[in-house]
Amino acid sequence: MTAYKRHLITAALPYANGPIHLGHLAGAYLPSDIYVRYMRLKKEDVLFVCGSDEHGAAITIRAKKEGVSPQEIVDRYDAICKKAFADFGIDFDIYHRTSSELHKETASNYFLELLEKDAFTVQESEQYFDKEAQQFLADRYITGTCPKCANDSAYGDQCEKCGSALSPTDLINPKSTLSGNAPIMKATKHWYLPMQDHEKWLKEWINEGTFEGKEHHNPKDWKNHVIGQCNSWIDGGLQPRAMTRDLDWGVRVPVEGAEGKVLYVWLDAPIGYISATKQWAVDNGKNWEDYWKNEETRLVHFIGKDNIVFHCIIFPILLKAHGEYILPENVPANEFLNLEGQKLSTSRNWAVWLHEYLEEYPDRIDALRYCLTSILPENKDSEFTWKDFQARNNNELVAILGNFVNRAVVLTHKYFDGKVPTGDFDQDVLDEVKSHYEKVASGLDKFNFRQALADAMNVARIGNKYLADNEPWKTIKTDEAAAQKVISTSLIIAEHLKNVVAPFLPNTSAKLAHILNIDAANWGGESTISVGHQLNPAELLFTKFEDEDVEKQVNKLKEAAAAAAQTFTLEPAKDETTFEDFQKLDIRIATIIEAEKVAKTKKLLKLKVDTGMDQRTVVSGIAEFYSPEEIIGKQVCLLANLAPRAIKGIESQGMILMAESPDGKLSFVLPEAVVANGTSIS
Ligand code: MF3
Ligand code: ZN
Repeated sequence: MTAYKRHLITAALPYANGPIHLGHLAGAYLPSDIYVRYMRLKKEDVLFVCGSDEHGAAITIRAKKEGVSPQEIVDRYDAICKKAFADFGIDFDIYHRTSSELHKETASNYFLELLEKDAFTVQESEQYFDKEAQQFLADRYITGTCPKCANDSAYGDQCEKCGSALSPTDLINPKSTLSGNAPIMKATKHWYLPMQDHEKWLKEWINEGTFEGKEHHNPKDWKNHVIGQCNSWIDGGLQPRAMTRDLDWGVRVPVEGAEGKVLYVWLDAPIGYISATKQWAVDNGKNWEDYWKNEETRLVHFIGKDNIVFHCIIFPILLKAHGEYILPENVPANEFLNLEGQKLSTSRNWAVWLHEYLEEYPDRIDALRYCLTSILPENKDSEFTWKDFQARNNNELVAILGNFVNRAVVLTHKYFDGKVPTGDFDQDVLDEVKSHYEKVASGLDKFNFRQALADAMNVARIGNKYLADNEPWKTIKTDEAAAQKVISTSLIIAEHLKNVVAPFLPNTSAKLAHILNIDAANWGGESTISVGHQLNPAELLFTKFEDEDVEKQVNKLKEAAAAAAQTFTLEPAKDETTFEDFQKLDIRIATIIEAEKVAKTKKLLKLKVDTGMDQRTVVSGIAEFYSPEEIIGKQVCLLANLAPRAIKGIESQGMILMAESPDGKLSFVLPEAVVANGTSIS
């Protein structure tokens, strides 16, 4: 294995079709940020890139839903996400955009270079097409049942339930998301990546860690669930996958005869890592190729589990097919974070949005970082609840970390004017503390962030116990030298604490440096606190999160989800019918002449209506919306030839037509002018 000179760390480019929520943070951004901060502390050469993924159907579908242009969508969400990441302290070296010219040129050239290397096969084939919308149905424009797990809302490119990557023709009962119709087949030409040709080296690379006969990485360093997903994919048999799409939003396919076609977003987006590196290199006078075309660079992709196949199979094939690029050394994907007992969902608005959290709690950034890191879904799904957030904040950050630092600093001010009282330290406890650099580092090296954070936190626990065991506030009266030693030693523990928590809690670490009046964090360095050193005044590092806060947040979540449920979703369009079929329905104007409640029911009214042909009884489920008195004399539309049926023992001879609003409210469909009873509607 190579000794690495530099590290290129990527975090999945989020789609610029919505804001960032806690699930995103727990999946890719928080672990990558912690990792990068740790590498920087160790003075490694590390570059951390990310940016907005601005192409693909995720964007155009959102734009259509909101009735605005795709450009407006990406401009809006790129700005929101970029700011939220920065405010939260996700410290990218660059946050780029795939809509930038540099990216389009990079992706376009990459495609041409692959063409030159014969990496694609061109095929004309039949693809799903929506006749009504006059559009080919790529990816998210088509839904249906997943052939692997039977989830009935899988997309044409992927099932989000089981993570399988799919092709539109894999779906059972496919439907267009544009019209709701079953699609037809229509011929179109596309450039395919013959993935089946790559099975052999992929298997070796993933399972043995060897590439082109050389040791590439240690497969034991990869997470089991990542390798498992890759193998099940490869063993299922890789298929040719189209790298172009019939869409009008994206990077144009740069060859003749490809009008109206763009690059597949999963070709375009990972190249976004490359274009981000290029832009950073331009801005910083560096050479981007050092990071992508040099075996002494270690490439690591941080992603969520729904991105595994794209980063472990498709992108590596594209990198290898090109020939000059390095492959990822690891892809430490996380699983999913659930929220208050349910799956996070943007469409159902079941989410805690980062930009909203930051606005509400600008002083609780590290508390959220701490809580999320403690529950990262590293090897299985995990769950965020506000109650748990409160418990971790109050019982750990406030009661352990904050309390220890506060006691040490306050005692120093109280007895020694804020000056370090002696250079005589308790070496035993300091040795124990120092052993934690290695523990934390070994957790971080293995992407065991939860364990690493627990080890860092143990330094505060040791400090607390040390103070409690030695009680300097008591010994100060009997043995001042002993008290001095304990307080000085505590301050050194606090100094180490500042270092070990720095990757996780950067704001706390900086605050601690300020309170102790020392340099910002360094990794495993010698203490800089010596006798006579003057501290700054004590400051609280954390404050309690109250029961009211928990309640407020849980209610907010529920209200937002309820509001989202109220928004209008059109019923899917129905299958085509014929005029003949329509004419079978005998719809007529009738007048309500009697109305009364049906006993022991909430919803039903028993009506007598005059149809011009007869007077008949109709039972109608409108009692929640109309009182019997107010509807007598009203004209309505009646489906007159519906077969009679008994409702609560009353024979109903027809059905009154009602319009149903999104919240379930029913209202009559009325003739615009009074017309004769029995007038038929056609
Ligand atoms: N936008 C994708 C998602 O949110 C991730 C793209 S990662 C990249 O799932 F590699 F393609 F950039
Ligand atoms: Zn599935």
